[in-house]
Amino acid sequence: MSAAPGFLTEREARFLALAAACVPAQGVILEIGSFKGKSTVGLASVAARYRLGKVVAVDPHTAPSSTDPGLGGQASSFDDFRHTLTRAGLTDHVEVHRKFSHELATRWDRPIRLLWIDGDHTYPGAKQDLDLFAPHLAPGGVVALHDVLHNFAGPIRVFVEDVLGSDRYGPAGCCGSIGWAQHRPVDGASARFREARGALARRAARLIPLSERGRDLRGVAKLRYKLQRALVPHGGADPETWAQLTSDV
Ligand SMILES: C[S@@+](CC[C@H](N)C(=O)[O-])C[C@H]1O[C@@H](n2cnc3c(N)ncnc32)[C@H](O)[C@@H]1O
Repeated sequence: MSAAPGFLTEREARFLALAAACVPAQGVILEIGSFKGKSTVGLASVAARYRLGKVVAVDPHTAPSSTDPGLGGQASSFDDFRHTLTRAGLTDHVEVHRKFSHELATRWDRPIRLLWIDGDHTYPGAKQDLDLFAPHLAPGGVVALHDVLHNFAGPIRVFVEDVLGSDRYGPAGCCGSIGWAQHRPVDGASARFREARGALARRAARLIPLSERGRDLRGVAKLRYKLQRALVPHGGADPETWAQLTSDV
C-alpha cells in the first residue's frame, strides 16, 4: 500500500486492512472511489490472504466532482490504477467497474461485509452512496467513510446524521479521518450503543457547519475547525480491542 499513490495515512491504511480482515460478516468488500489504487491494494491483499473473494472496486476514473483529487492534467486515473494493481500482483483479486457508484447500484444484489466509501465527497454524493449500498450491509458488516475529519461537506454530515444517528448501527468510531460503524440491526438501539454513538455525534457534529463553508477555511474558522477536530477521538485502533468490540454480533 505504501508504494501506491493515494490519500491514506498509515494509520488509516492499517485500520482499513484490520476491518477487511476482521469484520465478522459474510459478503463482499465494496470500494467506492479507487483513484490510483492505494486503498484497493490494501483491501485486495487482505482479501487474497484470507480468501475473502474479489474486492469490488467502482470508480469512473474521471475525477468528476469538484471535491475529487486533481488528475494533474491527466484525463483519467484508470491507467495508473491498473498499473498499481499489476505491480502489486493483485489484478486477479479485484472486480473492476469503471463507472459511477449509482450505475453499479442499479443491479446490485450482493450482501456487503465492508462498505468503503471514498468517492464523491459532496453531501449529495456521499449521501447517495450510503443510501444506495447500506441496505445491502450484512448484519455485523462495517461501513467506513473516508475524510470525515478533512473538511469535506459530505462525509462528516452523512456520518453524523445517517450513521451515528441511526439505531441500525452499534459500535462506531473514527480512526484518522475514517468514520466507521458496524451494522447491528438487532441490538443497535441498546443503551450502550446509543450513548456511545450519541457522544461521538455531538462532538463530530460541530464540524458540519465549518465543513459547509468550503475547502478553503482561513483565520479563526480554520483554527476552530482544528480545535473541534482535536476534540473528536480519532486515534489508531488496537487490533485486538477492535476485533473484540465488533465480534459479539
Ligand atoms: C479520494 S479519491 C479515492 C482515493 C482512493 N480510495 C485511495 O485510496 O487513494 C476519490 C475517487 O472517487 C471517484 N469518484 C467520484 N465520484 C464517484 C462516484 N459517484 N462513484 C464512484 N467513484 C467516484 C473519483 O473518480 C476519484 O478517483
